[in-house]
Amino acid sequence: MVEYRNVQIKYGDFVAMDHLNLKIEEGEFFTFLGPSGCGKTTTLRALAGFITPSSGEILVDGKVINQEPIEKRGIGIVFQSYALFPSMNVYDNIAFGLRVRKMKPEAVEEQVLMMAEKVSINQKQLYRNVSELSGGQQQRVALARAMVLQPKILCLDEPLSNLDAKLRVGLRRELKRLQKELGITTLYVTHDQEEALTLSDRIAVFNNGVIEQVGTPGEIYSHSATEFVCDFIGDINRLHSHVISEVNQQTGRKFKTDKEAYIRIECMEGKRQSEHDVTLKGRVLEAEYNGMFYKYTFDVAGEQIKSIEKNTGKAAYEVGEEVILFLNPEAIMQF
Ligand SMILES: Nc1ncnc2c1ncn2[C@@H]1O[C@H](COP(=O)(O)OP(=O)(O)OP(=O)(O)O)[C@@H](O)[C@H]1O
Ligand SMILES: [Mg+2]
Repeated sequence: MVEYRNVQIKYGDFVAMDHLNLKIEEGEFFTFLGPSGCGKTTTLRALAGFITPSSGEILVDGKVINQEPIEKRGIGIVFQSYALFPSMNVYDNIAFGLRVRKMKPEAVEEQVLMMAEKVSINQKQLYRNVSELSGGQQQRVALARAMVLQPKILCLDEPLSNLDAKLRVGLRRELKRLQKELGITTLYVTHDQEEALTLSDRIAVFNNGVIEQVGTPGEIYSHSATEFVCDFIGDINRLHSHVISEVNQQTGRKFKTDKEAYIRIECMEGKRQSEHDVTLKGRVLEAEYNGMFYKYTFDVAGEQIKSIEKNTGKAAYEVGEEVILFLNPEAIMQF
């Protein structure tokens, strides 16, 4: 459906994206994930037509669109800062694109009401000025305004960034439901790993102008291709050479001791999970209360190793306590 073929994008002499090769399937919810400044917005803007690649091709449905004007691309966009028309009410904002297309007023009304309902904007809010709405309501209007045009492709650049945690999660679910229901191919930009994992069919992890890995949330998380991806997508422990030696000794495996290895913090267990588990002696340095769980930091042979334990009403360990930790060698990642 969407394809980037060896695309390079420059701002003057500065190369913002290089060697960009990516294929996005029809109906897919595809996320660009990465830290600030890595080129996510740039990649999206090139597809929408706001920037022309300095080399390479962007294709939609097999057709090169590098020179196609923005309005002919059939792409709906919600920008990082949702640019609504501040002097219009909600209804007029959502109706705007339909009116530009010279749709009949009765049809416009039907479409606007249907879309407003989908994003949970009620009748009263529809005739209020957008400036009187909360940030979350405005983001919904921005979504409705883009989706009412039934674009082939929907580009969303951090559309939930200005919301509080609770609202974000709520709107995230709504967004996913809507996307499924309407079947719109969606390109979603975020630097929030949790958002990427929960929403996406597939994720591309960006780092400094290149893509480090493309895969399903499960692949990215459990089979990270690079150290950067592994570190960016979750909470990890770095295992130093003497811990790796200990693992090798107990398991007969041959992890490289001259290279760092990594393990996700939830793979460090306080209870034995299997007879193949490696045991490590540790001492509790720190307990961090998180509501749903505790995050512990241990001293293991002079190195700090973290784990999490579900909050069962009381702490699993006391600070200073000597403990045995269990580690599944299958969960070790080395690059
Ligand atoms: N108009 C511009 N002119 C020059 N350089 C730019 C321009 N826009 C972006 N850049 C540079 O290109 C790089 C990528 O920017 P981009 O906006 O794509 O990052 P991003 O991944 O979307 O980051 P964020 O998460 O902060 O939005 C950055 O180094 C940025 O400074
Ligand atoms: Mg951006």
